[in-house]
Amino acid sequence: MSSEMLQQNALRKAFGNFGTGVALIGVHDVDGHAVGLTINSFASVSLQPALLSWCLAKDSQLFDAITQADRFSVNILAADQTDLSNRMAMPGDHRFAADEWAASASGGIFVNAALAKFDCRLHQTVEAGDHVVFLGAIEEAWACDQSRAPLVYFRGGYRQLLGDD
Ligand SMILES: Cc1cc2nc3c(=O)[nH]c(=O)nc-3n(C[C@H](O)[C@H](O)[C@H](O)COP(=O)(O)O)c2cc1C
Repeated sequence: MSSEMLQQNALRKAFGNFGTGVALIGVHDVDGHAVGLTINSFASVSLQPALLSWCLAKDSQLFDAITQADRFSVNILAADQTDLSNRMAMPGDHRFAADEWAASASGGIFVNAALAKFDCRLHQTVEAGDHVVFLGAIEEAWACDQSRAPLVYFRGGYRQLLGDD
């Protein structure tokens, strides 16, 4: 194994020790289809102005669809949404079924039963190695559910959040 490979494995392992939530990015592709991508690179960035960020791999099948869109939504998934998360993390058909989402005020993709939903105008992109960082200006935000558990990703798998109740 090359030393570069070894380093990448160590990096993956180190990144994987950061437990995260899981979110679905939603965009309308050039044909107007609602498509989704599973991510865990979401971060809150700024309250004033309201900004968030996430990173897109340059080799994603959805790269063109997402980089051509001037808006996107971010949907924070709940623990019972692993099937949807897995489906939108697989190469192939990334289209949402009509009954899986509803339109935000500006027509963005708000995934049904997500814990929180953000509708964003593209604010800025930053080239960053094999990814592109997206900064979104948040125009609509909803904390939809304060009771259900989040979907958690840690060391390469979904985990249960250990609650204190
Ligand atoms: C939990 C989880 C988190 C992921 N986070 C990201 C991410 O932040 N950015 C990204 O580009 N891909 C991420 N992926 C991978 C994409 O979901 C996946 O590569 C993609 O959907 C594969 O199909 P594509 O080539 O059609 O995009 C993640 C996958 C999983 C399962």
